[in-house]
Amino acid sequence: MTLRLGDIAPDFTAETTMGTINFHEWLGNSWGMLFSHPADFTPVCTTELGRTAALSGEFQKRNVKVLAVSVDPIDSHNDWIKDIEETQNVKMNFPIIADSDRKVAELYDMIHPNADEKFTVRTVFIIGPDKKIKLTLTYPPSTGRNFLELLRVIDSLQLTAYHSVATPADWKHGEDVVISPSIDNETAKGKFPKGFKEVKPYLRITPQPDVE
Ligand code: BEZ
Repeated sequence: MTLRLGDIAPDFTAETTMGTINFHEWLGNSWGMLFSHPADFTPVCTTELGRTAALSGEFQKRNVKVLAVSVDPIDSHNDWIKDIEETQNVKMNFPIIADSDRKVAELYDMIHPNADEKFTVRTVFIIGPDKKIKLTLTYPPSTGRNFLELLRVIDSLQLTAYHSVATPADWKHGEDVVISPSIDNETAKGKFPKGFKEVKPYLRITPQPDVE
């Protein structure tokens, strides 16, 4: 199934390393990050899961629950977790789905047969509290993801969900943002008390509204 931005993230029930999870119920009112890994006991995946565990405080701060998917079985995941903890110097603190029947992988189109017949590619779905898909990313198995970039994107998604702004190229939390084209200057004066600079009628820059 092709999933697009704005679609409801498909619900499922799955066995994980932290027990059975019903996805929507488990998400509750949180944001979610569902991300797939090609296989257990592989080098890039080991570093990615370790990095996610190391950044768990950052995901928590943003109210994002993290859930990994791999098509290997639960015993394999549990053995692999020991290696991740040992080699990446972390405590694994989020669940990994044991998707041996590929139910979740197929539901989220995580297997791209022309890239690999058997294993999932590296996909990321960021899901909002309304259960809608806010972002999708697809990387090949050979390229590990940048988890600071995922946190940056989450910052942008959360800011732009609640304020009439968008974030420019390479933006990071705390930097200036641009005012949404749908807001006219009169409305912008009320909404952005810190003021804004009109570089062009369509390019208006203002300090990030929710920081001091
Ligand atoms: C890895 O996680 O290291 C990996 C997995 C599949 C293909 C290539 C690399």
